[in-house]
Amino acid sequence: MKARVLSGVQPSGQLHIGNYLGALKNWAEIQSRYESIFCIVDLHAITTYQNPAELSAKIKETAALFIAAGIDPEQSWIMVQSTVPGHAELAWLLTCVTPLGWLYRMTQFKVKAAQQETVGDGILQYPVLMAADILIYQASIVPVGEDQSQHLELTRDIAQRFNSLYGETFVMPATHLPSVGARIMGLDDPTQKMSKSAKGAGHAIALLDDPKVIQKKIMRATTDSEPAVDPAKMGAGIANLLAIAQACDPSITKETVAGMRYGDFKKLVAAAVIARLEPLQRRYREITADPGYLEAVLKRGREHVLPIAEDTVQKTKHAMGLHI
Ligand code: AMP
Ligand code: TRP
Repeated sequence: MKARVLSGVQPSGQLHIGNYLGALKNWAEIQSRYESIFCIVDLHAITTYQNPAELSAKIKETAALFIAAGIDPEQSWIMVQSTVPGHAELAWLLTCVTPLGWLYRMTQFKVKAAQQETVGDGILQYPVLMAADILIYQASIVPVGEDQSQHLELTRDIAQRFNSLYGETFVMPATHLPSVGARIMGLDDPTQKMSKSAKGAGHAIALLDDPKVIQKKIMRATTDSEPAVDPAKMGAGIANLLAIAQACDPSITKETVAGMRYGDFKKLVAAAVIARLEPLQRRYREITADPGYLEAVLKRGREHVLPIAEDTVQKTKHAMGLHI
């Protein structure tokens, strides 16, 4: 039997090149080796307010982007988290074995909580639901960007604690980071992670950005004031652009860009990104032209994963004595 892979993306904001290089591209590359389940985590998205009509459209857009990025629905399962009730049910069972201190320690919680006046309980519970997403499928590999490493450690801690309290129930999942592109930084500020929620037109390259817009954003990206690329002392902005270019086109390396003037280097980066995204955007347009196709893919995904999820929920409840 193939080992199982599980990962997810929130259907909020615009998916960007960080999501692609940190997650989707890696998923597409490893999917043939595993039984892969890729989840649109809409229950995570609602931990901050989402406009209902927009959220419903984003769920479909995200599914279409999974496929456009190379997830093959003939090989992998694509599903929407809220359509499988076991995720929320298991999250509650796991909440009851999770010390509050573990959740307060999460970096993402601290950052998000600091941005809000009233902090919803969902923001705190967020990583427990993520643990449920993973443990419910007994996934052994979780391909994510670096920002999720801490949540993955927490997932293992929760699984371990549950297993030691109630007996072996969950498979221990391993984090799988891409070799390049695990942490893409904002173009406007290379000290900040590129994120869906950050504002500012020059911050992120959206996967559906027009090539002209991509070019403009990269040409305007923040760098230091050196004249040319020096591999021995690259500033954060240049290092980030190089990581983006390298992940898009592996023939681009430190050596091949050494000595290039910043303007020329940025043109090279833009060309690599545009060439990478062009087929993705074309495929996206094809997929969205046929809504029936997308619905069928999500239905198949749901039907495949439902019994796996149900089995784990039953096993977990049984282990805890929740049966008569
Ligand atoms: P999110 O946008 O939070 O739903 O993240 C979805 C996936 O993209 C996760 O695996 C993240 O680790 C990954 N990801 C998000 N932002 C970045 C980034 N700036 N660089 C690399 N990976 C990222
Ligand atoms: N928290 C993840 C993020 O924001 C998304 C996510 C939810 C996820 N459930 C998951 C990722 C399960 C991997 C596995 O990036």
